[in-house]
Amino acid sequence: MDNIISVRGLYKAFADKKVLEGVDIDVPKGKITSIIGQSGTGKSVLFKCIIGIMQADKGSIKVDGEEITQLPEIELRRIRRRFGYCFQDAALFDSMTVEENIAFPLREVLGMKDKRKMKAIVKEKLEWIELPGIEEKYPSELSGGMRKRVGVARTLAIEPDILLFDEPTTGLDPVLSESINNLIKRVNEEFGITCMVISHDIKGTFSISDQIAFLADGAIQAVGSPVEVARAQHPVLRKFLENSFADLKVDCGP
Ligand SMILES: Nc1ncnc2c1ncn2[C@@H]1O[C@H](COP(=O)(O)OP(=O)(O)OP(=O)(O)O)[C@@H](O)[C@H]1O
Ligand SMILES: [Mg+2]
Repeated sequence: MDNIISVRGLYKAFADKKVLEGVDIDVPKGKITSIIGQSGTGKSVLFKCIIGIMQADKGSIKVDGEEITQLPEIELRRIRRRFGYCFQDAALFDSMTVEENIAFPLREVLGMKDKRKMKAIVKEKLEWIELPGIEEKYPSELSGGMRKRVGVARTLAIEPDILLFDEPTTGLDPVLSESINNLIKRVNEEFGITCMVISHDIKGTFSISDQIAFLADGAIQAVGSPVEVARAQHPVLRKFLENSFADLKVDCGP
């Protein structure tokens, strides 16, 4: 299989707190790979190392076969342009309109200056996320779900090869969570963008992912298709899944 990202023996500690202790993972091109695991196990740290905004202590990260852990900052920028990153809170700029938010990476990352072209891209992306005509609104005027969608539109604007979503559905109700999961699936299917997703929404993760990896004790303890991971016998994973599905039952009511 063609892997767009390959991580080998990745280590990261903060002072004496060991977080990643030998992470190995391959991310197949054009597929959706999700990382699951308990809070504080280092999922976000792993993402930050992959996009090069945090330096690992040891180990290898290859993007399309190119080792990125030792690259100088200027070279890293070239790699980062290939990535879109949706932060957990969508992190829109509150003082900017939706249009200015989506145009921001076009200007800052791609150096685009043509205002009419930027306007057209913003319009197209808003239509794509099914929120046409909200260019002039401010983030505070949008619901949480709408803000998440605008966050997706903003990362799509620069047409990345790889999109990383850090907890895209946290804080959303089940219906909105499903609509964000569908949006990720569409991004993947319509544009062929490789997606990596960190999620606590276990049901959603199992429905959209091609590959799921379970991170615990600093390493990937189980990896495979949703069916394979659901059947894996690793005791910590079993407990994690049982707890997650217990939460689901509570969500669903009696
Ligand atoms: N910049 C930092 N400085 C010091 N410690 C950090 C830093 N970033 C993360 N950590 C620590 O690394 C550990 C893993 O953090 P991380 O954010 O990756 O967890 P996570 O798996 O994403 O958790 P959650 O599911 O709650 O988002 C935590 O103990 C956290 O306190
Ligand atoms: Mg996190």
